[in-house]
Amino acid sequence: MLEVRGLSVTYPDGKEAVSGVSFALGDDERVALIGANGAGKSTLLRSIVGLLPASAGEIKMDGVVLSNISVSEIRRKIGIVFQNPDDQLFMANVRDDVAFGPRNMGLPEDEVGRRVDSALGCLGISHLGDRISDRLSVGEKRMAGIASVLSMSPNALLLDEPSSSLDPRSRRALMDTLQSLPHSALIATHDLDLAGRLCPRVIILQDGRLRADGPSDELLSDLKKLESYGL
Ligand SMILES: Nc1ncnc2c1ncn2[C@@H]1O[C@H](COP(=O)(O)OP(=O)(O)OP(=O)(O)O)[C@@H](O)[C@H]1O
Ligand SMILES: [Mg+2]
Repeated sequence: MLEVRGLSVTYPDGKEAVSGVSFALGDDERVALIGANGAGKSTLLRSIVGLLPASAGEIKMDGVVLSNISVSEIRRKIGIVFQNPDDQLFMANVRDDVAFGPRNMGLPEDEVGRRVDSALGCLGISHLGDRISDRLSVGEKRMAGIASVLSMSPNALLLDEPSSSLDPRSRRALMDTLQSLPHSALIATHDLDLAGRLCPRVIILQDGRLRADGPSDELLSDLKKLESYGL
């Protein structure tokens, strides 16, 4: 359903952070995106949702070329959880942040309320609903940011380091939630345990290039290879 072909992304200072990356993500498929710091994971995810222009290549979702549609249309199809949760939350309180996407989609207020309750509930953070988003702890912000994307029920989810700064209970709630979602997901992570448990397939990036794409039980158990990819 999501098809990335020959994607390259170059920053204005000339740094090519993603170079000729191609892969496809099937319906309901969960794939881990791993690679050392600076490998290009965040750049790749941001580029898929149209936040960074591609210098080469093409991205399609269900056959539609994404560069032909607006960023807001892309975001209805593909949800992104940013690496920095401060990029995700901007409303006065958590409920309003989680309601923002569904409201923006023009859904009736009772449906918006159902979606907010469901997103907060499945992540185990209903108690945060009335809190001021800006005053949450880093882990609380991360969970609220994930809820604000789940409430939009996108067809595909891109998650950038979703488990970083989470305590064991929140990490478990996150993993259970991701496991039960009917969406396809591309999860950039340094949490190789989470990658192995949640994702049957893993893609490895190094210096902006796709170095490996295959079954996680094979790729994650080959320590020599992982080391050679800077992991
Ligand atoms: N705005 C920018 N301008 C120039 N170079 C950038 C910019 N943002 C990122 N880069 C560079 O692009 C490369 C890829 O960065 P990116 O953030 O995509 O890596 P990452 O794999 O997500 O790393 P991490 O694991 O640390 O999150 C890095 O070398 C980084 O320094
Ligand atoms: Mg990153």
